[in-house]
Amino acid sequence: MKRLFFFIGILSTKFISAQNTAVLNADKGKDIIDKNIYGHFAEHLGHCIYGGFYIGDSNKTIPHKDGVRLDVIDALKKLKVPVLRWPGGCFADTYHWRDGVGPKKERPSMLNVWWGNVKEDNSFGTNEFLNMCELLGAEPYLSGNVGSGTPQELSDWIKYTTHPNGSSPMTDYRQKNGRPNPWKVKFWGLGNEAWGCGGNMKVEYYANVYRQYATFMTNWNNSDRIYRIASGASDADYHWTEVLMKELPANMFDALGLHHYSVINWNKKGSATNFSEEEYFTTMKRALQMEELVTKHSAIMDKYDPQKKKHLAVDEWGGWYDVEPGTNGAFLFQQNTMRDAVLAGATLNIFNNHCDRVKMANLAQIINVLQAVILTKEEKLVLTPTYHVMEMYNVHQDATMLPMEVTSKKYILGKDTLTAVWGSASKDKNGATHISLVNVDAKQPQSISININGANYKAVSGRILTSDKLQNYNSFENPNKIVPAVFNGAQLNNSKLNLTIPPYSVVVLELK
Ligand code: AHR
Repeated sequence: MKRLFFFIGILSTKFISAQNTAVLNADKGKDIIDKNIYGHFAEHLGHCIYGGFYIGDSNKTIPHKDGVRLDVIDALKKLKVPVLRWPGGCFADTYHWRDGVGPKKERPSMLNVWWGNVKEDNSFGTNEFLNMCELLGAEPYLSGNVGSGTPQELSDWIKYTTHPNGSSPMTDYRQKNGRPNPWKVKFWGLGNEAWGCGGNMKVEYYANVYRQYATFMTNWNNSDRIYRIASGASDADYHWTEVLMKELPANMFDALGLHHYSVINWNKKGSATNFSEEEYFTTMKRALQMEELVTKHSAIMDKYDPQKKKHLAVDEWGGWYDVEPGTNGAFLFQQNTMRDAVLAGATLNIFNNHCDRVKMANLAQIINVLQAVILTKEEKLVLTPTYHVMEMYNVHQDATMLPMEVTSKKYILGKDTLTAVWGSASKDKNGATHISLVNVDAKQPQSISININGANYKAVSGRILTSDKLQNYNSFENPNKIVPAVFNGAQLNNSKLNLTIPPYSVVVLELK
């Protein structure tokens, strides 16, 4: 008899685990998914700025406004880009903002020493960037030069961009350069990767340098207080976070950064398009590590800031592969496949679920570099699968996160496993609920049954991003190979929602 119960037990466990399950607590929403989690990053690197955003004001073939491509602006407006970080990256700690203001023909040229030693003519500088952000409707996030600059230079940049007219020689300079009034620049980074290209500092030293720079970063006359972001840890460097939380006075910072790239091996990154299932698995393993990184960095922050007044800004994330054959190795131009769509969808679900602490994230990088949402080639433009995920997910921006617990099956490859289904949910200002789900499994479709508590939905609709091959991508020759499609596969029966997600696919559902 005992044995019989044992077997029934095993059978029922098997039966239960044959399906993924989730519980959506639709009445337990508390935290807002800050729209800045859907932020981007643009560096003077390869063709992100030049050829990507900016083609020069004398260009006669591509429609532009003051040299900024209008096709790019139109596409990015559909994404609702909330915040854009600039001018780097490693470039930021070599950048002297005064080189990029004033009459263009008087601006000095320099070599971009980080990214291929190519000529930087400074034709795209502060005025061009901030005006472009206004055109885009995105908030600028300026990354200050701490590695090779001075506190005076950074303090002057704040005055030049944000202080009221007539309050300093910097504001007169701004007016002389054709900008009648200040811009709104809330987000300021104090250096980039201070542990590496930003100065190779130890965190104990950087903490002191940070305090010095932050002291002179004022805009007291301005009603919009600035928001200061410290150069944060690389990946699992928890010591970095611990020391900054201990050593930075609370009134001197708002957020700590965190950088995490999904790279298979820094010496052998592998092709962006021609990859095996093993390589896909490893990329996803690195990407899903974001869950652990955010959890552990947040736990350290909790010790010093249990009320979560200080935020985590994951200001660089994404997949990093070998450059496309025949392109400049320093330009980091890579294609973008369904692997990247899955990576983006799963990572954004992680950020949504941690929105009590993660208030900003910036995908690296927006155009033509690393996991880009747009690729350009002269007058041609391609929207990548990552673009489409960002567009499908923008329903979560500034919505209330609804806790959803997913009990997932495993995606198995050899002896290794990954969680197969990653999800998040939110309720927007109009009362609609959105659930985003990703099936990471490269081979198996995943059925999921979601129990809904605390809401009585009457209708469900959805969209899906999928393709018949994981390695598929949108090219300049075939730009619409992968686009979102209507998804009618979800069944709503009272408080139960059932659906099956194909392998390596991203689904966003709307419930009303
Ligand atoms: O995004 C490319 C580079 O990666 C950035 O410049 C740097 O911050 C990081 O190491």
